[in-house]
Amino acid sequence: MRFNNLHPRFGREVTGFDVRALDAEAVHVIRTELARCGVLVFRDQVLDDDALERASRQLGDGRLEEPARTWSHAPSTRFVSYLTGFRDESGKPLGVADNHTDYWHSDQEFRCDPATLASLYCLVPPTRGGATSFATTAVHRLSLPAELVERVRPLWSTRRPAPTHDNVDHVEVSHPVLLTSPRGDGEFLYVSENTERFIGVSDEAGDVLKAQLLHHCLSDRNVYAHEWRMGDFVVYDNAQVLHRRETFEGMRWLKGTKIFAPLEYFAVPAGEVVGVESPAGRDTGETELAASGTAIEERGNV
Ligand SMILES: [Fe+2]
Repeated sequence: MRFNNLHPRFGREVTGFDVRALDAEAVHVIRTELARCGVLVFRDQVLDDDALERASRQLGDGRLEEPARTWSHAPSTRFVSYLTGFRDESGKPLGVADNHTDYWHSDQEFRCDPATLASLYCLVPPTRGGATSFATTAVHRLSLPAELVERVRPLWSTRRPAPTHDNVDHVEVSHPVLLTSPRGDGEFLYVSENTERFIGVSDEAGDVLKAQLLHHCLSDRNVYAHEWRMGDFVVYDNAQVLHRRETFEGMRWLKGTKIFAPLEYFAVPAGEVVGVESPAGRDTGETELAASGTAIEERGNV
């Protein structure tokens, strides 16, 4: 197993390893690297849905979350989602197919206790464009002003599911803004473009604070844009990176899983339910999942 840096601040490429051959030692090495760098890109993997699900369970605590849109679920398992414009022989969409630029988001951020690790496996790369861009939220990598960090330290912020999420409780949930690694890998901002409000902060001041935090996270020098190759298996920690899908043309096929993180390695945002969402709640983000083949215009889905 060989590691190469993807970006000066975060993310590593992994070569010379078949994730179908995970054993206890490899799992420890991979978890440790992922906890440190936020994104791992394994090249040249050959994974069917069973192998994708099995590797995901091994890298996490054994549990997977069902993706929030049921029409993305793979035929053989509800724990693998299909993100593609391809259709089956009857013309039925195989998954969700959005191809527009997404919100910057954290997968599962609309759940009270989110599965914060996620994988994406590339079966067919897009013809043109379609990178998945990542940005680290690690405080020690962002050179954040100390007073800003201290200001957000006691704060909690909220998110809500999108109207089209049909496999989630439609409640507003809150999480701490600042997460701490259990292994001394630093602190991470848990704020995205889908952040609704900061509890105890006025809407106006909250909007300013959110813009200030995202300005630091989303500067060009803080973004790694992953251009997909066939066989890429990408695992990322949503507690320490934001991501979004970039616009693309043509067809592609990614498959994804949502993985509960082992608490001894990863910061996990334990949340609380704030209130029941109004029917007109705004849209939020979720990896690659959207209303493919429908008239729904939706953002917030890498
Ligand atoms: Fe996502």
